[in-house]
Amino acid sequence: MVLKEAKRPFYHWNDEQNEVWNLMYTRQYPRIKDRTCQWYQEGHELLKLSKDVIPSGEALNSVFQERTNWELVSTDVQYSDGQSWFEHLIQRKFLITEYIREKDSLDYTPLPDIFHDVFGHLPMQVHQRYANLTEEYAHLMLECPPDVRVGLGSIWWYTIEFGFIIEDSEIKAFGAGLMSSYAEFDLAFSDKMIRRPFNPVDIAQHKPSPHEWHKILWVMQDFEQLEEFVAQQRQYFRVLY
Ligand SMILES: [Fe+2]
Repeated sequence: MVLKEAKRPFYHWNDEQNEVWNLMYTRQYPRIKDRTCQWYQEGHELLKLSKDVIPSGEALNSVFQERTNWELVSTDVQYSDGQSWFEHLIQRKFLITEYIREKDSLDYTPLPDIFHDVFGHLPMQVHQRYANLTEEYAHLMLECPPDVRVGLGSIWWYTIEFGFIIEDSEIKAFGAGLMSSYAEFDLAFSDKMIRRPFNPVDIAQHKPSPHEWHKILWVMQDFEQLEEFVAQQRQYFRVLY
């Protein structure tokens, strides 16, 4: 499969945009750091994310390529449709949205921005095993029948975007959406949140809405649970189709 769009150069951010990053980073990272999973913290260090400026796409891509042999691709599409997103993933290309929310709306962006993509996703995606999983998941999404894809989309959402994982008997944030969301992070760990053990059948019945607070989230016992689920599903559809 050949992707149609031409690759564009990485964007270089101005002072105002860097200030938004600084404000968001400064209030978020110290607050969440100890409640995030090990991979997230390691990835954060590897990518040398800091409060000072939005890291350059070139610098991020250099670490990313060296660690995973994947490529970072700049996009101005603020909400890649599932098809395009997964077609990039199977070619080991990770899209980053080169847009940042406005200073007067730090708490909410209806569309993913650079803070979500780089602060939320990239520290996880920079690990080879995690990148492999996302590639496998993307194959699965593109191979399965449309009615199954809806449920698999929920499972992606409630793991890759809003999942928890157990580490050393403690619940840690795993999903990129949790990492980059100021309000939802605390809500996710609060008594108001219903947290259930990872169960793909259960999750597939819950269709997420990006415009409402979550009421239920799921906790993986370990990363193997998700790897095994994806491998089993791929095997199942290979046999069927
Ligand atoms: Fe995301």
